[in-house]
Amino acid sequence: MISNAHTTMFSKSTEKEFQELIQKYPSKRSALIPALYIVQREMGYVTAEGVEYVGKLLGMTPAQITEVASFYTMLFLRPVGKNVLWVCHNLSCSLCGAEEIIDHLQKKLGITTGETTPDGTFTLLRQECLASCDTAPVMQVNDDYEENLTLKRIDEILDKLRENKEG
Ligand code: FES
Repeated sequence: MISNAHTTMFSKSTEKEFQELIQKYPSKRSALIPALYIVQREMGYVTAEGVEYVGKLLGMTPAQITEVASFYTMLFLRPVGKNVLWVCHNLSCSLCGAEEIIDHLQKKLGITTGETTPDGTFTLLRQECLASCDTAPVMQVNDDYEENLTLKRIDEILDKLRENKEG
């Protein structure tokens, strides 16, 4: 029953993508992280159903998968907003105003770090060093870095992301 449900959980092309992915690795389990990224891309986050699907694919238990996935801050084990903002709060960024940036974002979005706006547009998170200390303060916005941030720049970024809300 479960396997029937899971054969239809992803589109044919996504299922093909999973199959192609596991062929790339000598050991299926090595495909775990990229497979979970596919789940996240398709489902918005790493759902329990997605974990189960990947577990069957790679011969792993959901507990094994969740244990590994929980180490990766880029993998979400619970729902997040359409846009995820990770503000670096490590030393270089702190010295360049990271806390002021976080305060500003919290006020603008009406949420605190770790939360998602009620309309599901933004999730705001703190992040450890994003390895771009020379361009501090830095924030990751979905897959891109925004560097040398200013409060004005943040307002522009939020406006642009809001404009793109419907795609
Ligand atoms: S401290 Fe922020 S990128 Fe390194």
